[in-house]
Amino acid sequence: MEFTWNDNLSVGIEEIDQQHKNIYEVVNMFLKSASSGMGKIEIASTLDFLIKHIEDHFCAEEELMEQHSYPGLSDHKAEHDEFKETIFELKEMLDVVGPSLSMLSKLSRILRNWIPTHIEEIDKQFADFIHNKS
Ligand SMILES: [Fe+2]
Ligand SMILES: [Fe+2]
Repeated sequence: MEFTWNDNLSVGIEEIDQQHKNIYEVVNMFLKSASSGMGKIEIASTLDFLIKHIEDHFCAEEELMEQHSYPGLSDHKAEHDEFKETIFELKEMLDVVGPSLSMLSKLSRILRNWIPTHIEEIDKQFADFIHNKS
């Protein structure tokens, strides 16, 4: 099942929407590599690439929230940190144990659920705050 970005996910800030679209693309790359029976090295490098995108994006959002003195910054950052922690744990499992079916399906499920929910519920809150301020 394709994991696709759609207009409902737009937060109305072009830079952030573009980063979200890129993350969707890289998640799809990862899901493809995970489902096509690729080896540990390929899957790990796609996952590293995804982690890099996610980390850069979280930094960009946190900087933007800071610039606008967003009062929800620390709660929002805590959500980012918790998600990163989960992904790091799974990455470590991948490095140590290899791409087991249960690990890959857990990771796929987390990416598919967390990303759209976070965008729609949490990212939109700070985007609305910025829109209402200006
Ligand atoms: Fe985001
Ligand atoms: Fe966020």
